[in-house]
Amino acid sequence: MSHTTVSPAAFARSLSFPKDFHWGTASSSYQVEGGYREGGRTLSIWDTFARTPGKVVRSDNCDITIDEFHRYEANLDMMAAFGMRSYRFSMAWPRIVPDGKGAVNQAGMDYYKRLIDACWKRNITPLVTLFHWDLPQVLEDKGGWLARDTSSYFADYCAAVYKEFAADVPMFMTINEPWCPSWLGYGDGTHAPGKESLQGAFEATHHLLLGHGLAVDAMRASSPQKSDIGIVLNLYPTIPASQSPDDLAAATRLDGVANRLFLDLTLRGEFPADVREWYADKCEFGYIKDGDFARINRPLDFLGLNYYHCHTVEAATDGSQARGYPGLDIRLVIPEGIPTTFQNWPIQPEGMTDMLVRLKDEYTGDMPIFVTENGCSLNDYVDPEGQIGDDDRIAFFSDHIAAIDVAMKKGVPVIGYTPWSFFDCYEWAEGFSRRFGLVYVDYKTQERTPKKSAYWYRDFIEAAC
Ligand code: FCB
Repeated sequence: MSHTTVSPAAFARSLSFPKDFHWGTASSSYQVEGGYREGGRTLSIWDTFARTPGKVVRSDNCDITIDEFHRYEANLDMMAAFGMRSYRFSMAWPRIVPDGKGAVNQAGMDYYKRLIDACWKRNITPLVTLFHWDLPQVLEDKGGWLARDTSSYFADYCAAVYKEFAADVPMFMTINEPWCPSWLGYGDGTHAPGKESLQGAFEATHHLLLGHGLAVDAMRASSPQKSDIGIVLNLYPTIPASQSPDDLAAATRLDGVANRLFLDLTLRGEFPADVREWYADKCEFGYIKDGDFARINRPLDFLGLNYYHCHTVEAATDGSQARGYPGLDIRLVIPEGIPTTFQNWPIQPEGMTDMLVRLKDEYTGDMPIFVTENGCSLNDYVDPEGQIGDDDRIAFFSDHIAAIDVAMKKGVPVIGYTPWSFFDCYEWAEGFSRRFGLVYVDYKTQERTPKKSAYWYRDFIEAAC
């Protein structure tokens, strides 16, 4: 399937997106801001992790990254020039509450006030994520997401932000992809804070989701303003590599941890029984207190879906473990013939449709779904004419947008698409070695060069709106 043989405008006209659909891109504070010691910001766990030898490719860190802290006006000018209608960004907790709890740092709030105003000035709708993994280091020093108190501190921080900005920001997302900080951060240690414990993965998951639930209530109580509140989950259709009973069971196990653990807790207030059973002799669940599931399962206004690809999975009988899934005894494979991105993620647009339809059928019903991320890293380079011809990204976006259109025609109420990302930026443990942007960034000079996909997306959005 490819929609690149027609013009972006003709492609847009062939689809049935509503005019008020949110079209834009997404980013996160640690990955784009820099200014890491400015305006009262304290260190986050990613500042520490990036400085820990061997954790991040080339030991890259975000002391500067794409310097949005200083260049937000220019960055937004470029977004506006390319027709972006929405900008999903995150706020840095250590900028707003430098001690993790307690006093709010007005200089931090002021930075985001300027950023929000600068968005509106350009008719770009600001959409705010409250936690995109940059936990204040001071809280990690007291246990981080393994400590139950962190959930209440998070709720306090979210309420302070909501009180300040609910009148200016129509949508807030509490947590981005809670699986990553819990299972990568505390489970197998490939993300900050780099802890390795299966028990820790479960406790961090619980305290992140508890933090989400407490934050929803605290935000709503903090202001009479009614902005929409949701959570962003990274979800993966799981496909058994074969029909063997072992592979079928492996796919169910993976679906349990990757998808249902987060969906069931946040949207049903239940812990998937099969996940608990599988891990019964490896973990203990005493960290769950009476009433917690109800505290986590608060009514939401929308669900954010980050969809990148499916997981094809087989049973691992040799004791090997897949990254991010300690103790699950599975192996992730790429089926033959499936194209992949630069970092070897399979390209499976049909999984977008499948996940959206499943969400509506099993979890969200009429609640809107926002596709808060999607995208691909490619081996982008500036050719001798100064162009970046990323046709594969155009194909990727068009195929995924078409897949959303299919889901919407099946009745899924999708309200927005903010792929990753407008600019190339830091890619966590991969440092700056991955390029996901519509715009190429030369990190030495901070020069920005739009890729072919930026022009394509501009023309598409213009015709779609
Ligand atoms: C997602 C993250 C985002 C970005 C993309 C490529 O998992 O939410 O920060 O790194 O992957």
